[in-house]
Amino acid sequence: MSVQIKEMTIDCYDEIFAMWQITSKRALSEADQREEIEYYLNRNKGLSQIAVVDGKIVGTVLAGHDGRRGFIHHMAVMPQYRRKGIAKAMATRAIEKLAQQGIHKTHIFTYQDNSCGQSFWSSIGFEKRDDIFVYSYEKK
Ligand SMILES: CC(C)(COP(=O)(O)OP(=O)(O)OC[C@H]1O[C@@H](n2cnc3c(N)ncnc32)[C@H](O)[C@@H]1OP(=O)(O)O)[C@@H](O)C(=O)NCCC(=O)NCCS
Repeated sequence: MSVQIKEMTIDCYDEIFAMWQITSKRALSEADQREEIEYYLNRNKGLSQIAVVDGKIVGTVLAGHDGRRGFIHHMAVMPQYRRKGIAKAMATRAIEKLAQQGIHKTHIFTYQDNSCGQSFWSSIGFEKRDDIFVYSYEKK
């Protein structure tokens, strides 16, 4: 199986969004509509990645930064392509691209019951933080 890791562009949006319905439904919000993803990709040029096998998108990762720290979202691989190193390859590429933009520390969020996601992030060297809570505010 030949896997290509490529930059995510907005012309892939429909295929990516269909994939997220399978892999990432719980994590989706209004921030994942086409216009919002296009805005995100334009603000974070070259950082987000897709994995392609036989012309089909089988993996995604959104990567961006705020000028100080990197943030990764929607790391996902289609079920039948898991445990082949695809997520690791996408994360490695995203982290390399962030480093090229001067960003040397990156955070991810994961649901507390997502043991699969947690095992993945630990396996590639992300350190679980027990000293931080995430607080979110929504401007109505
Ligand atoms: C998490 C996810 C992205 C991993 O994708 P993947 O391509 O299978 O991951 P990789 O093959 O690169 O795995 C690298 C390593 O991570 C660890 N790992 C990955 N999935 C794991 C699992 N389900 N259970 C335990 N360890 C796992 C292993 O150490 C693995 O190495 P190994 O296969 O040699 O043992 C994928 O399972 C997925 O899309 N899950 C649903 C979406 C999700 O939860 N995303 C994470 C949000 S925080």
